[in-house]
Amino acid sequence: MGLSDKDIVALSGAHTLGRAHPERSGFDGAWTNEPLKFDNSYFVELLEEESEGLLKLPTDKALLEDPEFRRYVELYAKDEDAFFRDYAVSHKKLSELGFTPSSVGSKADTKSSFVLAHSAVGVAVAATVVVLSYLYEVNRRVK
Ligand code: HEM
Repeated sequence: MGLSDKDIVALSGAHTLGRAHPERSGFDGAWTNEPLKFDNSYFVELLEEESEGLLKLPTDKALLEDPEFRRYVELYAKDEDAFFRDYAVSHKKLSELGFTPSSVGSKADTKSSFVLAHSAVGVAVAATVVVLSYLYEVNRRVK
């Protein structure tokens, strides 16, 4: 998918919002004490050994076990601005996965050029018919 270690950790930080519902996933609870606030507390709580009542999924814990992932967990826990910056970039990357603007744009351009050319031919044919009818009428009256 082209996501880097940094993207994986930054995107996991989205779990600073919301909660798990037992009837949906089988997991229960929120990752942070303020699940309606977007901040870096997911990373702060993840590094706490004892975060009473807060949720830690196996994929959250994996971010601590891998040294490359952990490097970013520690960075984001102490530098919220770095988290906000990297999260914005990674979220955009995730949202745009599979979207190729240049090819989509050129297809649309080709289509609209074709429609434009068709309309121009239509107008030219109509104008020719009008001019010929006029000339025919003038010619008929002169006779
Ligand atoms: C390793 C990848 C991920 C796993 C395993 C995972 C797993 C989960 C699980 C189990 C829940 C609880 C669902 C429920 O019971 O309602 C959840 C909720 C949520 N996830 Fe993820 N997630 C992942 C990646 C992401 C990403 C990339 C984002 C956004 C960028 C995200 C945003 C959220 C949010 C906001 C909620 C809370 C939803 C709510 O409050 O109803 N997750 N996730």
